[in-house]
Amino acid sequence: MIDVRDLGKRYRRGRRQWAEVLADVDLRVQEGSVLGLLGPNGAGKTTLIKILCGLLAPDAGSGTVLGHDIRRSPAAIRARVSLVAPTADVGIDNNLTVRQNLVFWAPVFGLRGAEARRRIDALLERLDLVGKADAWPMHISAGQRQRLALARSLLAENRLVFLDEPTNKLDSEGVRSVRSLITDLNRGHGVTVVLTTHVMEEAEELCDEIALLRQGRLVASGGRDRIVASLGVTRPIAVTFELGPEASGPPPLNDLPGALQVRLERAPGEPGLYTAHIASGDVRATTPALLSWVRAHGLRLRAVQTRPVTLEDVFLSMTESTTASTTGAARAVE
Ligand SMILES: Nc1ncnc2c1ncn2[C@@H]1O[C@H](COP(=O)(O)OP(=O)(O)OP(=O)(O)O)[C@@H](O)[C@H]1O
Ligand SMILES: [Mg+2]
Repeated sequence: MIDVRDLGKRYRRGRRQWAEVLADVDLRVQEGSVLGLLGPNGAGKTTLIKILCGLLAPDAGSGTVLGHDIRRSPAAIRARVSLVAPTADVGIDNNLTVRQNLVFWAPVFGLRGAEARRRIDALLERLDLVGKADAWPMHISAGQRQRLALARSLLAENRLVFLDEPTNKLDSEGVRSVRSLITDLNRGHGVTVVLTTHVMEEAEELCDEIALLRQGRLVASGGRDRIVASLGVTRPIAVTFELGPEASGPPPLNDLPGALQVRLERAPGEPGLYTAHIASGDVRATTPALLSWVRAHGLRLRAVQTRPVTLEDVFLSMTESTTASTTGAARAVE
């Protein structure tokens, strides 16, 4: 569906200065997959989506979307993909009700008569807008307007859909309906989806492929699990234990395999109760060693807490290394 190489985009910043917004971006998206584009603010996600939709010409690189050349045939791409941008609701006509807005747009996407009515009803239903079908757009909430914009884009029944932060501004109910719509589009109708999000949990839930952008460059892309593993994200483990009656303090906890950071903390309330907070880069090595340590020192185990690596961790480690490299650069300049 998408096959692009070495994409670059830059904007003029001053008379002789350019800001490089995208550089060397290679991306391949297979039919039927859901790709999540992740990255901090300003990473270039929206810019990349605009290029892939045929709305913006790249300054470097080449490739195809749906078999059409991104440089030579952007209009052909625009005609065959759906895009829901954060500002998509500007095209909503306030003089038409929610349903009338969709009826107005249906012929633009080649839908007429009974078929158009059926599709509009289905979209209103799936996006929880049935109760607002006859309301004026200025009387519905921001989240409902966003869902109306989504419904309008999906009238087109395109095989490739771009969603730029589709659940931004939505409440938990709205988030659920949009996420289940995305899953339904993909699994039920074979639609290929490219989405951007800041909600890591969302990418984990919806995407099978992930591309991480940082400062305009792809720092990782591939299957979700592989990405998380390749970034070497640390995982927190918390072990709460009780000291034996004779012990005056917790035994030292050194040289724990896989542990990158260890902090012992007295648990509030009960004397003799401590929690060891460990950041592990290799849970399979750290956990058994930790349990042996507990046994070896005659400690009583109260609780062990750990959680799976989330994209939140990935995002955090990305932002941390961005900060680190920025600071490094600043120092080098000084
Ligand atoms: N038309 C433009 N002219 C100049 N600079 C631009 C233009 N559009 C985007 N930029 C810059 O390009 C960079 C990437 O912007 P982009 O909107 O692609 O980021 P993003 O990853 O979508 O961020 P966000 O998560 O905030 O939506 C930013 O630094 C932005 O200021
Ligand atoms: Mg953006």
